[in-house]
Amino acid sequence: MSTPALEIAGLHKKFGPAHIIRGVDLTIAKGERHAIIGPNGAGKSTLFNLISGYFQPSEGSVTMNGAPISGLPAFEINRRGLSRSFQVSNIFANMTVRENVRCGVLHSMGYGYSFWRNIGNLRSVQEKTAEILEKVELLDKAHVPAALLPYADQRTLEIAVTIAGGADVILLDEPTAGMSHSETDRAVALIRKATEGKTLLIVEHDMGVVFDLADTISVLVYGEIIASGKPEDIRGNPKVREAYLGDEADQQAIGGAA
Ligand SMILES: Nc1ncnc2c1ncn2[C@@H]1O[C@H](COP(=O)(O)OP(=O)(O)OP(=O)(O)O)[C@@H](O)[C@H]1O
Ligand SMILES: [Mg+2]
Repeated sequence: MSTPALEIAGLHKKFGPAHIIRGVDLTIAKGERHAIIGPNGAGKSTLFNLISGYFQPSEGSVTMNGAPISGLPAFEINRRGLSRSFQVSNIFANMTVRENVRCGVLHSMGYGYSFWRNIGNLRSVQEKTAEILEKVELLDKAHVPAALLPYADQRTLEIAVTIAGGADVILLDEPTAGMSHSETDRAVALIRKATEGKTLLIVEHDMGVVFDLADTISVLVYGEIIASGKPEDIRGNPKVREAYLGDEADQQAIGGAA
């Protein structure tokens, strides 16, 4: 078996007395699309913050492509090929769509802020930016300030910026939150296309998205993974059904009899 994209071992996170992540072990193979599901407050975003270096673990380790990354600052983990989106949109509102994507591209090419003056000359940056804009179907809105985009397009732009850096491990935190059915379908298609050949870790509440996109699903409840496996195994797992008991919509969504 080849080296996994991510290996999480014995991970814990405490905020003062609150023990939020309570011993998470998770292996994610290269090229896998892995969804993390679980109730509100289970610790999903915290887990993303630990993997991406925004929080330091209280205990345990995270390894990416065979090298330990826990303890490294977020920018260093990003430089090594991991990029994440945020649950709340994190784009530059005053910049245009193109400028937002170009930021990510520049970053991946190692250009600092001082290069921005001569940006027009950096042909490869322009080409890469256009390629990404086309992939996420925002090329016709490239000149629009991000703040003026409809909400769903802002979230799509966030996905574009997340992948623009050229990272091969992509973490998306609730990318379709707040989208309509048709917007969600479009976003899923884009995510699939834009993350082709990459490793994807996604937190999602929309079970349609999860079962459509994921090869593997892990269920996080109160900071512990109670089940991990193929979508059909998760659907039939009694522990998962129990964790979702009381929420009829989710029961139906994971295929249970309500
Ligand atoms: N910086 C922090 N300091 C203290 N507590 C925190 C911090 N960040 C998160 N928590 C707590 O950790 C718990 C898990 O939060 P987290 O945001 O990871 O949940 P989640 O699974 O992403 O939930 P949701 O589905 O609502 O996004 C919550 O009780 C939250 O209050
Ligand atoms: Mg969250």
